[in-house]
Amino acid sequence: MKLHTPLCDLLGTRLPIIQAPMAGGTTTPALVAAAAKAGALGSFGFAYAQPEAMQRDVEAVRALTDAPINLNFFVNAQPAPIPPESQRGAIEAITGYYQALGLPAPAPVRTPYAPDLNAQLAMAEDIKPAVLTFHLNDLPADRLKRLRARGIKTGGSATCVAEALHLEALGVDFIIAQGGEAGGHRGTFQRNPYEAMTGTLALTRLIVRAVNIPVVAAGGIMDGAGIAAVLALGAQGAQLGTAFIPCTESGSPPIHKQSLLAARDDTTVITEKFTGKPARGLVNRYIREMNASDAPQLDFPAQGVLSGPLRAASAKSNQGAGNPDFLAMWAGQAAPLSREMSAAQLVITLEHETLEALERLAALRR
Ligand SMILES: Cc1cc2nc3c(=O)[nH]c(=O)nc-3n(C[C@H](O)[C@H](O)[C@H](O)COP(=O)(O)O)c2cc1C
Repeated sequence: MKLHTPLCDLLGTRLPIIQAPMAGGTTTPALVAAAAKAGALGSFGFAYAQPEAMQRDVEAVRALTDAPINLNFFVNAQPAPIPPESQRGAIEAITGYYQALGLPAPAPVRTPYAPDLNAQLAMAEDIKPAVLTFHLNDLPADRLKRLRARGIKTGGSATCVAEALHLEALGVDFIIAQGGEAGGHRGTFQRNPYEAMTGTLALTRLIVRAVNIPVVAAGGIMDGAGIAAVLALGAQGAQLGTAFIPCTESGSPPIHKQSLLAARDDTTVITEKFTGKPARGLVNRYIREMNASDAPQLDFPAQGVLSGPLRAASAKSNQGAGNPDFLAMWAGQAAPLSREMSAAQLVITLEHETLEALERLAALRR
């Protein structure tokens, strides 16, 4: 038996499984190559990557496999410079944490806060990946047309039906339905993100019924049972993020991996305090204290620049063992289903589990 949907033909993959792009170092070339070689769509989270680094990372994958890969970007207007005096409250709110980790006092952050999206997209057009996906907002229709003219399939994240219909009208090839369970940043761009937390089960079905292009479900999917569930809802594929974090090839800090593997219940919450935009992660001291305070924060992604040294030092503290207190340990609500294995093993396990789950369901017919 083969696990196949029309999405596999669209993306050129063997399986309807996408290893989610995870910006911030998780999606290393080794992870992307291993997932792609095993039959999933391997994805780079290039939100914070400069074009030269993108080129280097893609070359590293292409030396290992010619399987299709996905490049993913954050769509977010570059915010204007924030005068140092307007940053005072946000800086004061985290100065104590800097001290606790032995870091020099935080300095006001300066533009550019993130790489230039146009330069990243220009490099992506040169690289010509099989797939390009985007998160946090839309891409203009003419940009999508240009990517399509180069033979690149495009997909965008939607957290509600209105966003899915909007992306379909702009001309994407597929929609990623990001349910409220999902780890990492909320992709919401047309609604109040706190009012667009529809769970993966409801959201997938709503979007499948609303659009005429393939839908990929994301959020809380960790095994073949979860993949079979979203296929039953009419999704043509599943995008899994958290499940790939503990993989041998992932670049997440060991303390993040260990915290996922030790999880026994859902302890994730939403916070804006790491980057300035709502994102789901394992609760820790920083999130608990900062979410409870009314201290000001900077806009996305400037707040991320401010918290960056704290996160990096937290990952390396305790003689390199790491301290979970100040780390952004993004994770979905099904984190306790995390498993430790290589990415290739995970993809093959997911394939077998999905087929088994589908057989179990078929056996219910009398
Ligand atoms: C560590 C981490 C980083 C993420 N970074 C990105 C990203 O750069 N781009 C993106 O489109 N989605 C990103 N996501 C969200 C995933 O695409 C996806 O929606 C999510 O992982 C699905 O939920 P799950 O983690 O429960 O599988 C990230 C998720 C995690 C856990």
